[in-house]
Amino acid sequence: MKIRVINGPNLNLLGIREPEIYGRETYAGLVDYIHASAAALGVQAEVFQSNHEGDLVDYIQQALGAADAIVINPAAYTHTSVAILDALKAVGLPAVEVHLSDVQAREEFRRVSYASRACVSVVAGLGFEGYRRAMEILLGIF
Ligand code: DQA
Repeated sequence: MKIRVINGPNLNLLGIREPEIYGRETYAGLVDYIHASAAALGVQAEVFQSNHEGDLVDYIQQALGAADAIVINPAAYTHTSVAILDALKAVGLPAVEVHLSDVQAREEFRRVSYASRACVSVVAGLGFEGYRRAMEILLGIF
């Protein structure tokens, strides 16, 4: 099983950005964690990050025929992007939305997620572990 793990804007600054919310581990640490979790679960993970909405849309579209499922942390685009929602709907692959922080317990605007309308589940507030949980959920579907 191949899973595309897609990370949105500012996640490349993990470890630097608001460590009280997102922790002190770096983005490279997150990528290592995802690959180690995928190996332990017996799945293949391709990890991608971009700060650009269109690049995220392109990468979702290119999952068609190249991957079986998607794990996505759209970051700030979660709360704004109909384009990412439409791309997820267009490819129709099972997808799980992940957030490091507990978005429901933060500002009002973070409680709205467009992407989640195309996702089978949302995992939030578990930090890095949320990515492993998302892969486990997808494994349960197949
Ligand atoms: C985030 C939550 C979003 O609201 C925020 O814009 C992010 C990160 C998270 O992983 O907790 O950039 O997706």
